[in-house]
Formats: sequence, structure tokens, C-alpha cells
Amino acid sequence: MSAQLKNFLDIATEAVLAAGGVLQSYWGKLEEINEKGRSGDLITAADKAAEAVILDVLQRHVPDHGLLAEESGKQGSQTSRYLWAIDPLDGTTNYAHQYPLFSASVGLLIDGIPQVGAVFVPAQNELFRAAKGIEATLNRQPIRVSSTDKLEKSLLVTGFAYDRRETLDNNYAEFCHFTHLTQGVRRGGSAAVDLAYVACGRLDGYWERGLSPWDITAGTVLVEAAGGKVTAYDGSPVDIFSGRLVAANRQLHPALIQELAQVEPLPDRIWQKSKDK
Ligand code: IPD
Ligand code: CA
Ligand code: CA
Repeated sequence: MSAQLKNFLDIATEAVLAAGGVLQSYWGKLEEINEKGRSGDLITAADKAAEAVILDVLQRHVPDHGLLAEESGKQGSQTSRYLWAIDPLDGTTNYAHQYPLFSASVGLLIDGIPQVGAVFVPAQNELFRAAKGIEATLNRQPIRVSSTDKLEKSLLVTGFAYDRRETLDNNYAEFCHFTHLTQGVRRGGSAAVDLAYVACGRLDGYWERGLSPWDITAGTVLVEAAGGKVTAYDGSPVDIFSGRLVAANRQLHPALIQELAQVEPLPDRIWQKSKDK
């Protein structure tokens, strides 16, 4: 790993650990939980305070880089090759319900390619780190993706975007399809944790649509550095700004791509029911 990437990884680590401290300090003490506009898309004082400490770390260390943060949008240079994708609290719904699976995620895109990632999961005290060209670690110990090579032996994970009641392309059909073919499909509630768990082999594969760069930049680096593969739904190179991706170990990845292409839409009545709500 180049000294420069190592330095950026240390900066990302400092940022997620600082955010984790903030998230722990607000845990169970939220006075208000608001919606950001779309039903179910929550925002809390913890999201804002954790984002503030991450921005502070990055502005101190890399003042000339671009920043893309979930709650405050674009900051800093708009022309830099370096763009930091920041999710101060990935898994806000879990957090707001005191379901202890959430994370702080900081990733770095260089020329649009994910190259550095740190994800901290405070409730489990687990720190996942990786940079392009070096093995991924969990609490400083090397991690690898699983070796499960058949869907029927696999445990997958996915999630649902906040527009799920507004579009037929809401991942419900895909969820049914893979639930039928595998040992199970989990809905973790934090895309960054989902990807980190694929990286360390707890889960065999992940797919999701409707994501933002801050959800997946760090996790993509983790999976790739742990020996896995991350692509678009059709197997082409992943575009972090497209909002959809498939991540898995290399043996299983082709089966996920093949099955995603075969998913049949759910009957209209299910769509109508969810639309009426
Ligand atoms: C959400 C989580 C969830 C995913 C949603 C994301 P947030 O992020 O990553 O797992 O399914 O699409 O928006 O809102 O908790 O930061
Ligand atoms: Ca998120
Ligand atoms: Ca978030």
C-alpha cells in the first residue's frame, strides 16, 4: 500500500472512531426523531453530531479534498480527484429503535474509484478497514470473504431504499427470489455493515438498489480488499453513483448476477397494497 493511501486510511479510521464515540453518547437518549421528507427516512441529533466530528477530522487533515456527506451534502473542493463519502450513522432506523446494528462509514474515491474505507460498528466495537492493494482487517486482524460457492448453501443480505413504496423497482421481488434459493436473506439495516460482513465472511453476498455513495464506498473497498467482487447488477464494473451493486465472494458472484437477471416482477396486487398504505 502506498504511504499516501495508508495515511488516508488512518484519517478515515480517526473519523469513524470519533463518530462512533458520538453515536454511543447519544444511544438511548434521543429526544427527537424526525423524518427527512420521505416517509421512514429518519434524522436525529446523533446523525448531525457524528457528521460534524467526521467533517472536522477531514477538514483538518485534507482541507483541499472534496467531501460528500449525507446530511450536509457537498463541501470543499468540487474539482479535486479526491472525494470522501461520509455516512455518519448508517442504520439510522435501527439506531432510533435501539436495535444495536449501525455504523459510521467513511470511504475515499480517487478519480471516482473507491480506494480507502473504514467502517466502525460501535455496539460490537468492531472496526473494519481496508485500502486498495492491501488486505482488509477487522480490529487489525486480516479478514477474507467466505468460500461458499452455491446459492443453496449461502446466507445473503440486502436492504430496501426509502422510495420502496413509490416504485415497482423496490427490491421486493428480488428478496423473494433469493429467499427461495438460499439458506436465508438478512435485512441488516446498514449497508456499510452488510458489506463489511461480506468482507469478513459472515455473509456470502449482498445486493441492493437505491443506495448513495456514502452507503457503499467504504464497504466496497472492504469487500474487494478481502478478495471479493463488487459489480453492477449485470456484472459490469460498479459505478458508485448508480446506487446499485452486487458484492460477493468470487465463486458465488456469477450466480447472483445470473439470478438477478431472472427475477420476475411480483403480482400487481402486492404492489397495489403497498401503494395504498
Ligand atoms: C440506509 C441503510 C440501509 C439501506 C438504505 C440506506 P441510513 O442508510 O444503509 O441498510 O437499506 O437504503 O439508506 O439511512 O440508515 O443512513
Ligand atoms: Ca446510509
Ligand atoms: Ca445515514
